[in-house]
Amino acid sequence: MNGRDANLKKYERRWFVIAMAALGVLLGLSIWWMMSAPGRFPTTPLTDPVRKILRSPMFRHPGVTKLGPHHYRVAVVAHQFQFEPSKIVVPVNARIDFYVTSADVIHGFEIPGTDVNIEVIPGYVAHVFATYHKPHDYLVVCDQYCGIGHQNMIGAFDVVA
Ligand code: CUA
Repeated sequence: MNGRDANLKKYERRWFVIAMAALGVLLGLSIWWMMSAPGRFPTTPLTDPVRKILRSPMFRHPGVTKLGPHHYRVAVVAHQFQFEPSKIVVPVNARIDFYVTSADVIHGFEIPGTDVNIEVIPGYVAHVFATYHKPHDYLVVCDQYCGIGHQNMIGAFDVVA
């Protein structure tokens, strides 16, 4: 191998490293882009039952609705990979009716430290109710493996006085 060949090899190797780095950055950016906005890149097409539920009045604008003096409805849509809404605030000493559905795959809706632990199946609405007597900030976690962002699927559930 003469000096010129060795130089060429070095040159080639350098460009190979640069190309690989560029590819890595691009791949990283695409993954970040897909993960940064849940639902932007639907992994599962919406089926008719799912679409029908998501368009119903309760789930079109998910969140907390006051139904009576001590009665609240909490409508939640589970997505890959977040809950909508991601933060729920309810008062103490009220009946809280949770209605939870999924926009894509099977998720969990668990509030650790309480009795609420629901399996959320697309095309169905899960319903449980509970009353909280003490103010406390709880977490909401997805306890069903639902894809690459499963471990980031965490919300807040605050019971306030
Ligand atoms: Cu949603 Cu795990």
